Order: sequence, then C-alpha cells, then structure tokens
Amino acid sequence: MSFSDWYNRSLNKIWGFVEDRTAMKRWALRPQPEFSFKPSYWTGAFVAVALVYQIISGALLLLYYQPSTSSTLTGCGQAVGSASTAPAAWCSTYYIIHSVPMGELLLSSHLYGAYAMIFLLFLHFFRGYYVGVYKSPREFSWMVGTLLMVVTLGMGFTGYLLPYTQLAYNATNVGVVLALRLPTVGPLLGPLILADGTGQGLLSRMFDAHVILLPLALAGLFYAHLALFESHGIAPPATSDPLQRRRFTDKEEKDHVPFIPHILFYTLKWGLLYLGVLFGIAALWPWSLPTYVGNTAAVGVVTEPDWYFLWLFKLVDFQGVTPVIAIAASTAILLYILFLPFLDRSKRTHPRDRPLFIFIGTCLLEFFVVMTVWGGETPGVQIIPIQIAETLGPPFAVTALAVGLFHWRYRLSYRRRLAARQSQSFAGPYPSAVPAPHPTPSATEVSSPE
Ligand code: HEM
Repeated sequence: MSFSDWYNRSLNKIWGFVEDRTAMKRWALRPQPEFSFKPSYWTGAFVAVALVYQIISGALLLLYYQPSTSSTLTGCGQAVGSASTAPAAWCSTYYIIHSVPMGELLLSSHLYGAYAMIFLLFLHFFRGYYVGVYKSPREFSWMVGTLLMVVTLGMGFTGYLLPYTQLAYNATNVGVVLALRLPTVGPLLGPLILADGTGQGLLSRMFDAHVILLPLALAGLFYAHLALFESHGIAPPATSDPLQRRRFTDKEEKDHVPFIPHILFYTLKWGLLYLGVLFGIAALWPWSLPTYVGNTAAVGVVTEPDWYFLWLFKLVDFQGVTPVIAIAASTAILLYILFLPFLDRSKRTHPRDRPLFIFIGTCLLEFFVVMTVWGGETPGVQIIPIQIAETLGPPFAVTALAVGLFHWRYRLSYRRRLAARQSQSFAGPYPSAVPAPHPTPSATEVSSPE
C-alpha cells in the first residue's frame, strides 16, 4: 500500500469515527449538489461570515464602550485638552483607538466589516434577483431575506451614532426626521426613538436597538432563513425549463456533497480570505474619529450618512421631494422587493425570459449607484428636475434598449430553433405523436417565451 493510500484511509477512518460519534449527519445542514461549488452559489454564506465577525468584534468593543453623553475627561484628556470635556461615548471610542491594545484594528475592522457585510448583502440580493432565486418554492426565503436586509440596514443606522460624533449626530437627526414624517407610524415611532428628547435619550435608544433589539430580530430571521434554505436546498442554475426547479429526489441526494466537512471548509476558505482582506484594509487605512457632539471649536461639520444611505439623502435634495415623498418612494421600493415573488409569476428563472423584471432590477441598481455617488459628491446641494432627467435618463434608456434588444434577439433565435426542431420531427424517424428521445429544449419550453 502506497503512503498516500494509507494516509487517505487513516483520515477516512478518523473522520468516520467523528461523524458517527457526533451524529453529525443528523444535525448538520443537508448535503448540496456538486454544481454549487462556485462562490456565486454561496454569497449568502459570505454575508453570514461577515455577520459572525461583526458579532465577535462588537462584543469585544462592548467591553470598553460607554453609551453615555455625560462630559468626561477619562480616556480622552489629551484629545480635548484639560480645559474642556467631551461626551463619554466619544471618549470611550477615543480610548479604544488610542489605549486598548489592537483597539484601532478592532474598531476599524468592525466599521469596515459593516460596510463589507452590507456590500455582500447587496451582492447576495442582486445575484438572487438576476438568477430568479425568489421563484417557487423559495418565495418565503426571499421575503425573510428582504426583512434581513432591512434589519441589517437598521444595524448600520443605529451603530453610526454610537461614537457620538457631530457628523453622525447630524445625519442621525435627518434620518429620525424622515422616520417621524411617516404617516400614522411616524407619531408612534417618536417616543420610541427619541425617548425624553435629550441627546442621552436618543443615544440610549440607538444603543439598545444596536446591541439588543435588532440583533435579536437578526438572529430570529437568520434562523428562519437557514431553516427555509435547509428545506429547499440551494437554488439550481437559472433556466428556461420550469421542470428543473423541483426539489432534489432522495436518489439524487445520495450523490450530493455533505455539508460537513466539504461545504463548511469551502465557505471557511472564503471566510478566511475575507478576514485577511478586512484586517489588511483596517491596518493600512485605520478609521479616524471625527469630532464629538457639541465641540464648539469645530467648524463646518457636514451632514453625511454612511455610503449605504447616501441615495436616500440625495433623494431629499431633489427639488419638490419632501421627506414624506422620499419615505413613500423608499417604502414603494421595499414593497416591490418584498412581494417580487408574487409579481413575477412566470415559472422560468433565466434572465432572458424576464425582460421587464430585469429592466426594473437594473434600473434599481443604477439608481442606487448613481444616487450614492451623487450624494457623496454633493451632499445637501439641491437638484433641479432637468439635472435629474439628464443624470438618470440616459442609463435607464440604455438599459431599456439593451434588455429589449437582448430579448428580441433571443425570441428570434428561439423561434428559429423551434421551427427547425418541428420540421425535423415531421421529417425525422419519429412519428410526430411520439416524442424524440432527447427533446432539447424541454417540452415545457415549447410555449413561446413571455
Ligand atoms: C443578513 C443577511 C442575509 C444572510 C446572512 C443570508 C444568508 C443566506 C445563506 C447562508 C443562504 C444559503 C445559500 C447561500 O449561501 O447563498 C441564503 C440563501 C438565500 N437567500 Fe439569503 N441571506 C441574507 C439576506 C438575503 C436577502 C436580502 C435576500 C433577498 C431579498 C435573500 C434571499 C435568499 C434566498 C432566496 C436564498 C435561497 C436561494 C439560494 O439557494 O441561493 N437573502 N441566504
């Protein structure tokens, strides 16, 4: 027996022992098909890895952070000078950066980790949108995912104020004003968000939401998301054939790859790469703490949220767009995403079969990117309607043209293939009533595309 044979056998034996004694097959996530060994199938797992790091780093930050607006010199004496004092929330953040060993890396990686998680979340969402993962039977997975997105953005919003910088305070106030303008819900939210109306009240509520309420919601929703994933399995590749979207049979399941160790190690590999890049960026470009709330010496502090809310801030800069209209528009977008599985009723998942929804999704993506860049470059600058038309019109028109041409070309080639196949089946060795042995595309594809 060669050394490699002996080595592999021994490893198999050890693994078999562990698998047997831990009853792993019963509690591990279900096996998945081999085709899923591509990063694009595991974008959700990357979001989960980012989430786990946020929980760990957030728990460590909690050891030092003080959610208080009381003036203090502790921790930031040198920063503010002995004559003046700064809020404890800001001072404890300053202390983490300057006095806690590796504190700067910890805080910067928590902040950049939040950006990365939101970026990966958008990737997971848009990938799912384009390949149609929201279709039957995964409608509820999609809806729970949409709620996860809302809660994750809520985590970003509430965490932004915690260092109690003037920049974050101004931006949070704009966000709070927007929320309070919501019809019916707004007045109810007021006391919930503002507490007694003081800075301390607002900070305490944001802190509670960031470390208790929203994490609980996130945990419950994530559990539901995983349970649904467990029951339906990974979504198969996008296709024009609705028959491919059934659940896998028991027989096929036997050919699947076990979750532990294969898929776990596969995602861990990507997870470690993620952590390496995150630490690298945090070490090379550590976050610098802006000035604290109430610093009378500070001049010209702009009001700017984190990048993922810039689009909403820019929307309020549009001439004629009141906070109520901005909130109504974002609620409409949210409801569209939430109920998408019930709006797009066709059974086909391939982008070429869904021109209308691909057009809407691409416009949403373009809107988000353009507004984010615009918001970052000219925060607070009013925009007149002609500028809006000039900036957003061309990308939307190009998208309409590209999607339309693509779909038209597909219909043409599809009809040609169909006609060729039909004439073949009339002339061929098989009588027309008897199906050919390898019908491609499948019989379900024969109806004309939408
Ligand atoms: C905190 C946010 C989220 C986390 C941690 C998360 C996690 C995951 C994980 C681990 C999976 C298993 C397959 C994969 O790794 O891609 C998954 C699948 C899925 N996710 Fe998410 N997800 C989140 C947000 C979302 C959002 C925003 C949507 C869409 C609105 C969504 C829709 C889906 C759907 C439909 C599936 C099943 C389809 C498939 O197998 O690819 N998820 N998610």
